[in-house]
Amino acid sequence: MNVVVVYESRTGNTRHAAEMIAHGVREQGGNAEAYPSTGVDLTTIAAADLVVVGTWTDGLFFFGQRPGGSMKLWQMPEIHHKKAAVFCTYAKNPGKTVDKLGDLVEAKGAEVIGGDAFHRNKLAEQVPGFVNGLMALV
Ligand SMILES: Cc1cc2nc3c(=O)[nH]c(=O)nc-3n(C[C@H](O)[C@H](O)[C@H](O)COP(=O)(O)O)c2cc1C
Repeated sequence: MNVVVVYESRTGNTRHAAEMIAHGVREQGGNAEAYPSTGVDLTTIAAADLVVVGTWTDGLFFFGQRPGGSMKLWQMPEIHHKKAAVFCTYAKNPGKTVDKLGDLVEAKGAEVIGGDAFHRNKLAEQVPGFVNGLMALV
């Protein structure tokens, strides 16, 4: 299985989560690499069996949460006819960031099969379960 993880990150938490996801897939025998949203091309996406898209939570901490850096995510290549999963990192409360990111990724052409939010200080506890869930779904 070939998994492409695409992330948007300001201070590194989401990049770290993306790299952990790619590492976790490789540990289970798949191929996986993580790319910043501005550094992934259509050929790479086209070769993926699953595209995982992650970003940070942007908002007013307890309301108005939305996917951070969504302008850059809109500019990433199309994800036509691909299965996808989404995730966000957050500090206090992600609100509906995962659902909103799922809508964005579906608008890019993908079929979203799962999503989760990871507290920025609990990546080591939360990311492995996400990877296991993905591997069970595809
Ligand atoms: C401008 C700004 C707004 C944020 N708003 C929220 C928020 O509404 N809720 C929340 O839980 N975290 C919020 N955060 C925290 C980030 O989502 C969190 O630290 C995330 O892990 C950062 O990811 P990154 O290191 O990949 O940039 C905000 C951070 C910034 C810089």
